[in-house]
Amino acid sequence: MFESLAAAPPDAILGLTEAFRKDTRPGKINLTTGVYKDETGNTPVFGVVKEAERRLVEEETTKSYLAIDGAPDYSEAVKALVFGRDHEIVREKRAVTAHTPGGTGALRVAADLIKSQFSEATVWLSAPTWPNHPSIFSAAGVPVKTYPYYNAQGKCLDIDAFLDALRKIPAGDFVLLHGCCHNPTGMDPTPDEWETVAGIAEERGWTPLFDFAYQGLASGLREDAVGLLEFCQPGRELMVCTSFSKNFGLYNERVGALTLVAESQETAQVVLSQLKACIRSNYSNPPAHGSAIVTAVLNDVALKKRWEEEVGGMRDRIHAMRSLFVDTLKAKGVERDFSFLTKQNGMFSFSGLTPEQVDRLREEFAIYIVRSGRINVAGMTPATMDSLCKSIAVVL
Ligand code: LMR
Repeated sequence: MFESLAAAPPDAILGLTEAFRKDTRPGKINLTTGVYKDETGNTPVFGVVKEAERRLVEEETTKSYLAIDGAPDYSEAVKALVFGRDHEIVREKRAVTAHTPGGTGALRVAADLIKSQFSEATVWLSAPTWPNHPSIFSAAGVPVKTYPYYNAQGKCLDIDAFLDALRKIPAGDFVLLHGCCHNPTGMDPTPDEWETVAGIAEERGWTPLFDFAYQGLASGLREDAVGLLEFCQPGRELMVCTSFSKNFGLYNERVGALTLVAESQETAQVVLSQLKACIRSNYSNPPAHGSAIVTAVLNDVALKKRWEEEVGGMRDRIHAMRSLFVDTLKAKGVERDFSFLTKQNGMFSFSGLTPEQVDRLREEFAIYIVRSGRINVAGMTPATMDSLCKSIAVVL
């Protein structure tokens, strides 16, 4: 049977990290996958995570299954983080949250729900988007289409084309929006533009589906929810996929959540029953450890404060690397103006490098970046900046 299979292509992002691991050249640099590194090039465990784990080891009394949708205190903590503890959605209990294995798990459960309950619906994705988005929805049998988003020439949001396309999306479809730190471009709508997008969603009757994987990495934990909150008016519906991979550094714990906001508490409970049916036939119930850490931190005033400081530290380092990158490119004699990189949000810098230039960087200099030209700024360090920018100058 298996002899008849053809090999699948490597993953556009994780496949490059696999290739990087096998590369034996000294001085190799991996700026592919969105993983944060500190000044010394390590991906540290957050101090608050270590502290929460210490407490968990002492206090944990069982390894029995969690509920299909996870632990209630985790769900409440996620809702408070996304909407704010006193938000109307939380007070009216219009939101249900299922704990999922990572943000990818949340997207897949959302896709399964769409396929099983809204079989005629299409999911609209930005062009460009995270390469796994189309794969996740297609794997679940959900049709996908794209809307324009980025102006590659102007290195900015193509706001007119974006809004025009959103105005043509039919009622009953779902539109995937990146809550902040658009992946891969790093270009987010302004608060006013978000307001316009939310108005179009209401007018047209399509449902927003937020990928909210980078909360806290653009301007701040609350600040980064500003766009999403525009859609959170009384009676309005939306879906939110949360990830704690980046803002808690819990990558390999696979901890995320799918939150669905319905018109009323009663409808929300019906939706939850459908979500649970999707989850049960997929991974049955979620892994506990990561969510226990997140809950312990978010529900403890002192730990939460320390966590916010750690996220702030990450944000500051990323901003500093962004500026250093732009300055070092200039110092290496690159004439092209790269100052647009400092306007981009989050971990990634959408550089405008061509796939051929990216291939040369990998082949000649052992520098790995994604072929779309997306560079993980959060993986840069002062120690590697010089050789990185020197090599980029050569391929340019
Ligand atoms: C990325 O875009 O690099 C991250 O979201 C990690 C991944 O799974 O691709």
